[in-house]
Formats: sequence, structure tokens, C-alpha cells
Amino acid sequence: MTIRSVVRGVGHYLPERVVENAEFEKTLDTTDEWIRGRTGIERRHIAAEGEYTSDLAIKAAEAALEDANMSVDQIDAIVVATSTPDSTFPSVATMVQAGLGSTTGFAYDVQAVCAGFIFALTNANGLILSGQAERVLVIGAETFSRIMDWTDRGTCVLFGDGAGALVLEAAEGTGTANDRGILSSDLHSDGRYKDLLYVDGGVSTTGTAGHLRMQGNAVFKHAVTKLAETAHKALDKAGLTGENVDWIVPHQANLRIISATAERMQLPMDRVIVTVQDHGNTSAASIPLALSVGKQRGQIKEGQVLVTEAIGGGLAWGSVVLRW
Ligand code: UT7
Repeated sequence: MTIRSVVRGVGHYLPERVVENAEFEKTLDTTDEWIRGRTGIERRHIAAEGEYTSDLAIKAAEAALEDANMSVDQIDAIVVATSTPDSTFPSVATMVQAGLGSTTGFAYDVQAVCAGFIFALTNANGLILSGQAERVLVIGAETFSRIMDWTDRGTCVLFGDGAGALVLEAAEGTGTANDRGILSSDLHSDGRYKDLLYVDGGVSTTGTAGHLRMQGNAVFKHAVTKLAETAHKALDKAGLTGENVDWIVPHQANLRIISATAERMQLPMDRVIVTVQDHGNTSAASIPLALSVGKQRGQIKEGQVLVTEAIGGGLAWGSVVLRW
């Protein structure tokens, strides 16, 4: 008998305030045309004062639990992917646990920046396969607006805030790619590239939160090659090929990266879930947000094969293949 981690519910939350590209024209040497043309981003949501990553995560988790028709008492573990926690510690995950009214099970954060959800999903799958947990809430939640340098046009126009969540449940499978659930994972990192995308502050260095710094063009080049490669590896591990893929659900950083990856995978854009125009880059939240929006739009349906892939600071990157 094979155990599979099957998605039972999905949900998301976006802060109320929407900032259109045109707003940046007032304070920066930039244009809506440049942002749209170079990235595909049209708008992003920004958290309100006093609204924290845990607040976004709790709302996304509530939506996912409702979608799964489950109560928090049924959840054994909560894994949150974030690089923008409310505080250095405790984890956002334990704040979510308390916020949902749970006093059982366990909760912790995973940090792999924009690839965080891929790592968290793989980690949650490990909890289920090893028998540590039967039902796991996996959340990606970020308030990247809090680490933006609002004078740096090369970064601040790119990011947004948001959260998405999945409920995974152990289920019996046959051990073939026909099973529902997570079919394979492929994870990578290479710390030599830390200077390409980092935050210039931290607990042990400056004692401040710092601001995001990125050599966008260099990250772009890594993304275009590494994402298609990891997606192919994950498909191979699952015993599938591009032809079996119903949807690519990519990290939403840049429409040009998304379409270049689809092209390398020889898949048309009508098989890609795209939300970057409305959310910007929400780091670890972008894939669960895209999964939730894709389901709401009626694109993602039970039984379909999905390939998720992401790259971010570290560099860290990877891919998860699942049957929805
Ligand atoms: O999620 C984590 C992973 N992150 C990513 O995947 C992001 C990857 N990188 C990218 O998406 C793209 O590299 C960017 C959107 C960040 C930049 O696009 P690009 O085509 O790589 O542009 P560039 O950095 O090479 O800059 C081209 C020009 C520069 O001007 P010069 O030097 O050619 O005169 C920039 O100063 O565009 C300029 N520029 C801007 N102009 C207007 C940079 N930002 C802006 C802006 N408005 N907001």
C-alpha cells in the first residue's frame, strides 16, 4: 500500500488595498508601460498598517479548511512558508495555530524565500508519508511590502502581499501516477548565489529587518534555465512527461519567466495558471494563491496533473508534481 498526500481544500486571502502600477509613476522614475511590459504585473495587494503575515495566513487557512469541510481540530500539523514573519520568533505557524483556536498538534515555519511553498509542501508530504501527521495545513504567507526599499524602482514595483493555503490528507494510493496527491518533488539550492537576491539586514548582523536587494537580470537568467530543468526532473520522478501535464502552476514573479519556462517545457500558455498581473510577486504565497484562484476560476479540476515550480533567494528552487 502506498500513502499519498491528497489535497482536500485550498484557500487564499489578499489584503484589501490594491496598488495599481500608475501609483508608482507619482514617486518613481517608472511607468505602467515599463512594469507591464517587463514583468506582466498590473497591480498588487498591500497589507494595511497593523495587518501582519500571521493575519493573512490565518484567513487563508480558514478558507482552505472551509473548502476541505474540516475543522482545525482535525489538523495534526501546520507548516508555514514565509520569509517575512511577524517577529523573529515565535514562528508564524504557531500564531496561526493559536489564531485558529487549536491547542493540539504542532506548527513550524519553513524558509526558502520564493521557493518556500515548494519546500513546505515537500516537507508536509514527508510528515504524512512518515506517519507523523495525517492532515497538514500548508500555508504560504508574506508581507514583502515590509522589506521593500520604496526608492528602488528595480524591486519595489515587483512585489505584493498575500497568503494561500492547502489542506493535505493521507490517503491510500496504488503507487502509480494515477493516484491523486503529491507524486514527486525535486529540490535544489546553491548558496554561492546569495548576493543575487538577499535582504541587507537581519537579527545576527544589523539587528534590523533590512531591505530586499536583487540583481534582477542575473536571477532572471537562472530562473529561465533552472525552472524548466527542475520541472522536468520532477515529472521524470513521477513517471510522467509534459504531455501528461494539465496545468503548470508557476511561481508568479515575471510573465516573461513564466512563458519562457512553458516554452522550454513545450507547453502552450493556455495550460499555465497566471495571476502575476493581479498579485505581483508574493514570494512563498504565490503558488498557493495561484492554486486557489485557478480552482475558483474553474481551471483546476479534480484528477488533473499539476506541475508547480519556483526559484528564489539562496538561490533555492524546486518543483512538485501532484494530481489534484
Ligand atoms: O521571486 C524571486 C525571483 N525573482 C525573480 O524571478 C525576478 C527576476 N528578474 C526579473 O523579473 C527582471 O530581471 C526584472 C523585472 C527585475 C528587470 O527586468 P530586466 O528586463 O531584467 O531589466 P534590467 O534589470 O536589465 O534593467 C533594464 C533597464 C535598466 O536601465 P538601463 O541600465 O538599461 O538604463 C534599469 O535601470 O530598466 C531599468 N529599470 C526600470 N525602468 C523603469 C529597472 N526597473 C525599472 C522600473 N521602471 N521600475
